[in-house]
Amino acid sequence: MSDRPYTLLSCSVSLDGYLGDQTPRLALSNEADFDRVDEVRASCDAIMVGAVTVRTDDPRLLVRSQARRDRRTARGLAPSPMKITVTNRVDLDARSNFFTTGEAEKLVYTSSPRVADARARLEPVATVVDGGRRVRMRWLSEDLADRGVERLMVEGGGVVHTQFLADDLVDELQLVVAPFFVGDSSAPRFVTDGRFPWNAGRRAKLSEVRQIGDVVLLRYGLSPRFRED
Ligand SMILES: NC(=O)c1ccc[n+]([C@@H]2O[C@H](COP(=O)([O-])OP(=O)(O)OC[C@H]3O[C@@H](n4cnc5c(N)ncnc54)[C@H](OP(=O)(O)O)[C@@H]3O)[C@@H](O)[C@H]2O)c1
Repeated sequence: MSDRPYTLLSCSVSLDGYLGDQTPRLALSNEADFDRVDEVRASCDAIMVGAVTVRTDDPRLLVRSQARRDRRTARGLAPSPMKITVTNRVDLDARSNFFTTGEAEKLVYTSSPRVADARARLEPVATVVDGGRRVRMRWLSEDLADRGVERLMVEGGGVVHTQFLADDLVDELQLVVAPFFVGDSSAPRFVTDGRFPWNAGRRAKLSEVRQIGDVVLLRYGLSPRFRED
């Protein structure tokens, strides 16, 4: 088994590179693309988002289509993938959709000093994992592999994207560009500052460009493990 899951980072951005505005769950994508994302979700063992996304968007992170849920169940899987988040503040509400929806396990990674607080707040709705002095995404990825996660979908936000990309942990990037601007520099961006493995001297491999109604999907293979299918 590989030391870390095949990792697919999926998100949608505005024309000016923002993940949203100050409105929770701003719809950057369209219905056809949400359905495509649903198919990708159904193909994964786990979905990960950062704690700010859990707090501000209150996402369910479930497979929406009944047919896809049924296909997963027929394969002996939970109807929707496992959910993963990471936090240091541990300001997470056990009643939020992240924790109350879906049958599969929910994992919360936090640093050692925060574990007791996290367990007091979130058990039994989630399993709290001690990530050591500081949670590093490489260690987290390896821990997920040890728990049987072979395919991981990272769904935001920018702080989480930055760590996965800068640490060269992403095999595939699926970036959807919405046809409008946010125009607010205080809004969350696709990534924050970082030293990324792809730059002017090392360009990422663009593998597909697909128009989906009024948005465009850009697929990049970011590692030799990238699978076109
Ligand atoms: N367009 C899209 O596809 C899309 C997808 C997802 C989200 N979004 C948007 O993105 C925005 C949120 O993005 P964001 O960049 O502000 O935040 P984020 O990446 O969702 O979450 C960041 C938070 O995660 C926790 N965290 C991250 N790395 C950590 C580490 N190594 N150790 C411990 N905790 C860690 C911290 O939580 P604590 O603060 O709890 O310590 C940190 O503040 C929201 O507005 C949401 O709507 C858009």
